[in-house]
Amino acid sequence: MNRYECAGIGLLGCGVVGSGVVEALSRNQDKIYERAGRRPVIERIAVRDLTKPRSVRMAPERLCDDWYSVVAHPQTDVIVEAMGGVEPARAALLTALTAGKSVVTANKQLLALHGAELLATARANGATLHYEASVLAGIPAIHTLETYFQANRVRRLRGIVNGTSNFILTRMNTGTSFSAALAEAQALGYAEADPSQDVDGDDALYKLQILIWTLCGSTMPETAIVKRGIRGLTEEDVRRAVAQGKRWKLVAEAVFDAAGTPVSAVVQPLPLSPEDPLYHVGGVTNALTVEGDLVGEVTLMGPGAGALATASAIVEDLVKCLRTSVSSAQSRAEASYDHSVAATTISV
Ligand code: NAP
Ligand code: HSE
Repeated sequence: MNRYECAGIGLLGCGVVGSGVVEALSRNQDKIYERAGRRPVIERIAVRDLTKPRSVRMAPERLCDDWYSVVAHPQTDVIVEAMGGVEPARAALLTALTAGKSVVTANKQLLALHGAELLATARANGATLHYEASVLAGIPAIHTLETYFQANRVRRLRGIVNGTSNFILTRMNTGTSFSAALAEAQALGYAEADPSQDVDGDDALYKLQILIWTLCGSTMPETAIVKRGIRGLTEEDVRRAVAQGKRWKLVAEAVFDAAGTPVSAVVQPLPLSPEDPLYHVGGVTNALTVEGDLVGEVTLMGPGAGALATASAIVEDLVKCLRTSVSSAQSRAEASYDHSVAATTISV
């Protein structure tokens, strides 16, 4: 296969999400090729610890512990970031975007804190920034806000946006302890590397900030958002709610004025009754209700965390990215390069 028919992917991070991306690209490679117009080939992968066992097989010569060599590699056209954290992820993505390489990221903390800087750098260098996976994992929330709510005035966003918290609260409803439920969420790959981000509400806050930014084009500072997590909820609180026919949920909500400016934003646990649609959203499932002045309430629901659910959003973004960036990638390409070796040596 010649170079123009392939897109070299530089993957930063091969943990829960990065491994999911390797698997998703392998599993659906023909469909992705058909829709993207080019076959994504993972050229280089950066991890922190080269000795760690991996759940997916990969050609060892493509693995390294140096993000810069992935971003700067002449055969990487698009960078997929699944490392997490602010640094060195921010430096890596700024380096990639400055070089005109488009980016797909799952990193909500980075987006919430530095999304505007990354987007400006992308635009200044003819690259694109894609971040569907950073919010509500497999649910196409960003796509929906970017493509549908153009004529509607959005009045309110309300949802369950952290899978780990919802998973823990759901388990606690049936008597599992907080710590046992958290350990289960971690084992399933739902929790952040630092799970206090989940249980203290930071992860939900970042997602709410990204949703607001996507809708309004400007961010709402963290200090303007009320944030409470689920850590303070006791097993007795949960039992009492269940006895009253209610369920605790970590609810994120933003309200907008008629001009589309956010006037309030809150992340907090609430005891919901069965009349509330969010009462019925259990386990790792997330849901987001968007209230538009024309359409009324539209609710999106689906898997809010996990390897393949998140990888799904990443590879959907990747297809979008490849369809729109063919020309800039081609200008860097070497016509003679043959990717067929890489395509056959990286498999799951
Ligand atoms: P993870 O399992 O901890 O994986 C992180 C990966 O990044 C690991 O492979 C790690 O290497 C690598 N890494 C970390 N720092 C690095 C560095 N300085 N240089 C090179 N590699 C480095 O985390 P994850 O759950 O996949 O999450 C990754 C990102 O996706 C986070 O931003 C998270 O918020 C986001 N996300 C996660 C989910 C989910 O369900 N898990 C869903 C949506 C979004 P080692 O393997 O060698 O340690
Ligand atoms: N830790 C996050 C959650 C991963 O549980 O929702 C998905 O963003």
